[in-house]
Amino acid sequence: MQSTSIIELSQSALENNLKFIQAQMGDSVIISSVVKGNAYGHGIEETAPIMELCGIKHFSVFSADEAVRVKNVLKGDHTIMIMGYIPDDGFDWVIDNGIEFYISDSDRAKNVLEVTRRLNKKAIVHIDLETGMNRTGLNQTDLQKAIEIIKNNRDQFHIRGVCTHFAGAESISNYVRIQKQIKVAAELFDYMKKEGMKPDIRHAACSAAAMVYPDTRLDMVRIGIMQYGFWPSRETFIHYIHEKTDKRDPLKRVLRWTSKIMDVKDVEQGEFISYGNYYQAYENMKIAIIPVGYYDGYSRALSNQGKVLINNKRASVIGMVNMNMVIADVTNLPNVDIGDEVVIIGKQGDYELSVASFSELSNQVNYELLTRLPMDINRIKTK
Ligand SMILES: Cc1ncc(COP(=O)(O)O)c(C=O)c1O
Repeated sequence: MQSTSIIELSQSALENNLKFIQAQMGDSVIISSVVKGNAYGHGIEETAPIMELCGIKHFSVFSADEAVRVKNVLKGDHTIMIMGYIPDDGFDWVIDNGIEFYISDSDRAKNVLEVTRRLNKKAIVHIDLETGMNRTGLNQTDLQKAIEIIKNNRDQFHIRGVCTHFAGAESISNYVRIQKQIKVAAELFDYMKKEGMKPDIRHAACSAAAMVYPDTRLDMVRIGIMQYGFWPSRETFIHYIHEKTDKRDPLKRVLRWTSKIMDVKDVEQGEFISYGNYYQAYENMKIAIIPVGYYDGYSRALSNQGKVLINNKRASVIGMVNMNMVIADVTNLPNVDIGDEVVIIGKQGDYELSVASFSELSNQVNYELLTRLPMDINRIKTK
């Protein structure tokens, strides 16, 4: 059954973005494609295979549940790395399937020993270091404990990586904090070496760090938002273009979100439109009803604010955003009819509605808006 709106995923845009990122990082740096949050709302099941077609072999997810979903749709050789949550009963599947995961607290290192012994398989782990973000990651005491557990059970662990995460590399206001984190990370990497812990790779950078702080690229970068065609922040984009002669955005949006007009109506001047008295027709008006609402991730904050594209023209969203519908003012658009395409995000003719402009209006950042796109919207691959 077709959903009330459709998300198109452009393979060529994804390919373009990944090529750009790899060129920036250099060939020796592994790109781990971050597909947590349902691939930033693009859809794990639909997006991960396209990434695989584009040459990606390393995938980062937040949870074991997402790892299962990624594994189920990939065909070739690949690595899946869980950066976050694994329920107690999830370690059997994770370890048995060679899924890599973070050791962010020493209890996890202790708890997996029973599973590795029973399955007679090693846990492939990344030691997650607390360097100043104060989220997950091993602090000094816990790191020492984890190292002891690993040293005493060498044959149960493969130390695939050592890693950390930066607390807001997309904003200059965090510059001092990030510099401190870079320094602490370097000290801890040395400390690990002295303790005889020899990881295959070191990794720390997300999109913003990878672009703004080249020293953080190390052996692998974990790239989320940029592969989908968005800069982590305006600042990051400006940082990139400021010394370039070509000021165009090299990234292309992967996602295009469309629906269709389900009804067109005439409304007399003075009438209120939709719930309450939020919008009053200032003249005799023509309105189009679109079957997308806040249930679909179209924020209520876009009431009387949002824009959509219809017949290659911009149209304003008027009245309240409802749970399943919005209404657009099409008074001055010629030949608008039921079934006409409505673009909510993306291009139509000469116009484009970017997620950024859409989310600036509703005070949501790209990350949040994208990940709120519901899973039950049909997603299709396009060229
Ligand atoms: C640990 C970790 N690494 C990498 C990323 C990717 O970040 P970005 O989407 O900014 O590239 C995230 C995203 O939040 C993350 O939590």
